[in-house]
Amino acid sequence: MSAGQRPGQAAHPAQVAPAQVAPAHVAIIMDGNGRWAQLRGLPRQEGHRRGLEALRGTVRNAGELGIRVLTLYSFSTENWRRPATEVSFLLGLLKRFVEKDLGELHAAGVRVRVIGGRDDLAPDLRRMVEHAEAVTRDNDGMTLVVAFNYGSRDEIVRVARQLATDAAAGRIEATAIDEAMLALRLDTAGLPDPELVIRTSGETRISNFLLWQAAYAEFVFTPVLWPDFDRAAFEAALAEYGRRERRFGGLAEPSGRAAGAA
Ligand code: FPP
Repeated sequence: MSAGQRPGQAAHPAQVAPAQVAPAHVAIIMDGNGRWAQLRGLPRQEGHRRGLEALRGTVRNAGELGIRVLTLYSFSTENWRRPATEVSFLLGLLKRFVEKDLGELHAAGVRVRVIGGRDDLAPDLRRMVEHAEAVTRDNDGMTLVVAFNYGSRDEIVRVARQLATDAAAGRIEATAIDEAMLALRLDTAGLPDPELVIRTSGETRISNFLLWQAAYAEFVFTPVLWPDFDRAAFEAALAEYGRRERRFGGLAEPSGRAAGAA
C-alpha cells in the first residue's frame, strides 16, 4: 500500500502524474452533434452521422498519441428519453460502427469493451457487442471503451445489488466490502481510472459519466462541437491537462511533485 492510501482504498495508478506524461486513460463526453447540425440548417441525424466520423478520427488520433484507454460516452441511460426516431438512429449508428469498423479496429490491435446495462439492449445488438468484445479480447493495443446505455448511477446500483445478494447468500462478508471490491464489479473492472475527462460543446456537467472512476480526473471543457473535434482540438485538451498539477488530496512539494495524500 502506498503512503497516504487508506486500508481497503483502491490504489491509484500513480500518486502523482508529472505534467509531461500523457494520460493513459482519456474519457470523452461527445456533446454538440445537434447544435452542429442546427447551425448548418441540417437535421440532427446529420450531426450524429458526422459525430460518428469524429469518433473514428478520435480513435485513430488517440492511438497515435499513445493513449492506452479511450472511453467514449455514446449513449446514456437518459438518452432513451429522446424521440424514438433519434433513439433508433443512434442504435443504428452503433450497429453500423460495429459492422463496418470492427475489422479495422481488430487489425490495428484495438481491444473493444462496451460498458453500460446490457439488459435493455435488443438481442441482436447485444450479440454484436459481445462478438466485438470476444473477437478483440486478446489484442494488446489501445482499449476502446464504448459507453452505451451507460449511466454511473445505474452501474453503481447494479453493483450494490450484486454485493447485497452475495452478502445475503453468505458468499461475502458485508464488512469485507471496500473500494477495491466495489471497483472490481464495476463495468470498468480491470481498467485504470481516467486521468482526463474531456467534454465538448461548452457544457460543463459530468452528466452521470464515470462518477466513481473520475474521482481524481482532470476535466477539460472545450467549446468545440463534437463533429468538429479534430486532432488539433484533442492535442489542445492534452496540452491543457499537461499544465495541470495533480495532487490526489496531497500537498504540492517545492519540486512540483505531490506529497502523500491524506
Ligand atoms: C450528444 O450530442 C451526442 C450524443 C447523445 C450521442 C453521441 C453519438 C455519436 C458521437 C455518434 C456515434 C454514435 C455511436 C453510438 C457509436 P447532442 O445530440 O446532445 O447534441 P446537442 O446537445 O447539441 O443537441
